[in-house]
Amino acid sequence: MLIDGVHYRSIWPAEDGGSVLIIDQRKLPFDVEVETIRTYREMVVAIRDMHLRGAPLIGAAAAYGVYLACLELANDEPAQFDAAVDRAMAELREARPTAVNLHWAIERQRMALSCCSSPDEKARAARRTADAIAEEDMEICARLGTHGTRIVSALSEEAGGRTLNVLTHCNAGWLATVDYGTVTAVIYEAAAQGIPLHVWVDETRPRNQGALTAWELTQNNVPNTVICDNAGGHLMQNGMVDLAIVGTDRTARNGDVANKIGTYLKAVAAYDNRVPFYVALPSPSFDAEMPAGVGSIPIEERDPGEVLSVRGMRAGREETVALYPEGTEAANYAFDVTPAHYVTGYITEHGVFTASELAEGLMAGQSS
Ligand code: MRU
Repeated sequence: MLIDGVHYRSIWPAEDGGSVLIIDQRKLPFDVEVETIRTYREMVVAIRDMHLRGAPLIGAAAAYGVYLACLELANDEPAQFDAAVDRAMAELREARPTAVNLHWAIERQRMALSCCSSPDEKARAARRTADAIAEEDMEICARLGTHGTRIVSALSEEAGGRTLNVLTHCNAGWLATVDYGTVTAVIYEAAAQGIPLHVWVDETRPRNQGALTAWELTQNNVPNTVICDNAGGHLMQNGMVDLAIVGTDRTARNGDVANKIGTYLKAVAAYDNRVPFYVALPSPSFDAEMPAGVGSIPIEERDPGEVLSVRGMRAGREETVALYPEGTEAANYAFDVTPAHYVTGYITEHGVFTASELAEGLMAGQSS
């Protein structure tokens, strides 16, 4: 998507193939900085410390991390190479626990590497697989846009063509994927089709991913307003939200949805106010191995310091300031799970499904 009119992806291999470039999301929305990732360990840090974030992008980044590991280890003897790449894959896999895309991408690399013999061959296969995952992610997001726009278009017709208010939580935008985004693919496609839209952007404490969403929507000319995390219920109760669409880091087979902390409360408010609540779900975020999500999907707990402080800009300089006196206790649960019965539908690359249709719909789509 666009930054100051120039097209960017969130991750791409360097021209000489020796490193991988990412947009350092810690600097956004004030500064656009490209970071060069040279080793798989740097990729582990980039994922863990959220230089990049968002489930689909974490998957693509892990795949490129495996490629970097293969490059670094290419001069090892084959047996040592295999053991060291296995360790690298384990480290990458442990970088963050909730997004299933990370496991999915590592398993896909493992399969690709198992078909090759020499380290050189494996490095080439790892690069091909990482590139394929990135390309497929863009294709999937584009298809989410097409399927989701049908929902938006029907609601717009029902509303007589007035501006539709869409609420979203966290950043399920192009920054969270390789390009387009999952939720924002729907928004960008609907806007491109001339459907008048306005987006309520949840601030999403403590990491303020809403700032990323607002920034990217503005860069791409979509009207939006940031609201504090607790405002959604009030807006829904007063008829100011026509549709909620959120992303997901992992959706279980029964349709329970893990997403950024606070999603569950929005789903409950949407249900109480009969606001349609959709999940933009690319198939790599679907965990077919997990029968149900509540109580089973691992929920990341991050540094409480993220709750106790806030980062911002003052006079052109980045600053982190304390919000609480030293010694204050805090807990930082990064995700929650929304039970499937609150979800109106899942927008996937194979179509829009209800919870009871989801597993079969995705399976049928993958085999067709
Ligand atoms: O902690 P983050 O910023 O990686 O969490 C991201 C989210 O929760 C997104 O909404 C989710 O990954 C879906 S992104 C397409």
